[in-house]
Amino acid sequence: MIRLLLLDGLREVPVDAPVLRADDLGVVRGEAVFETLRVVGSRPCYLDEHLERFGRSAASLDIPMPPGFDELAAKAAAGIEDAGLRLTLTKGGLGMAVVFEIAAETVGGRSGIRVVTLPLGLASDFRRTAPWLLGGAKSTSYAVNMASSREAHRRGADDAIWTSTDGYVLEAPTSTVVAHLDGRWVTPPAETGILAGTTLRACASLVEIATLPLTVDDLAAAAEVVLLSSVRGVAPVTDLDGRKLVTPAGRALQSAFEASLRR
Ligand SMILES: Cc1ncc(COP(=O)(O)O)c(C=O)c1O
Repeated sequence: MIRLLLLDGLREVPVDAPVLRADDLGVVRGEAVFETLRVVGSRPCYLDEHLERFGRSAASLDIPMPPGFDELAAKAAAGIEDAGLRLTLTKGGLGMAVVFEIAAETVGGRSGIRVVTLPLGLASDFRRTAPWLLGGAKSTSYAVNMASSREAHRRGADDAIWTSTDGYVLEAPTSTVVAHLDGRWVTPPAETGILAGTTLRACASLVEIATLPLTVDDLAAAAEVVLLSSVRGVAPVTDLDGRKLVTPAGRALQSAFEASLRR
């Protein structure tokens, strides 16, 4: 951790300061929401898009959103050249910003990642009618996401892609899936209960990306696949379930996205 700031008073505190109450439902029940952003040149990238989603996530978990996260993010980013920034709001009312060094593994992922598909055990349309599953909310109940990443590592890969019981591609545990299929980029719709990615939104302003149901067979036939997320950015998939993939369109998208962070 490089820097820790509290929403209360918009003040920086030592990185090892005790900040959480033991009975905060964010810890006890995983009832907290968060956003992870990239900071480049003292600026929290795509902050408006992140704050918009932060508000939607908080509403899904019935957590009142206090004002001030925009100012907190700006203060946290000041003087930081390139790092990650995590904003968190717990049901116990703690708001905080943590600036962290981007892990070498994350940076390395920009050169290419190996991915395996893992079944999530849900039909692609199930979360549309099951709001209690909190589809589309970025809550800290991410133990399943982290366990999926560990399973991918156990299988010799760097990351996972979740698939539905009815044969559709959903998302990765911490990124959005985009496949290059028949000469165009395609990504699954948010109605499947996946998180609406801010990196996807940014990339869709740089190249055309169609939002369409993407089947497991489509993925297996895709010429290229990339995983999109705020801190890693555009990660070209070089190996999908053991199949080698080329990455020219993915690398072009990555260059355009990285340039957009410095504008
Ligand atoms: C489940 C999931 N899907 C997609 C994403 C990508 O979102 P973003 O591009 O806003 O970082 C994330 C980011 O952490 C995520 O956790």
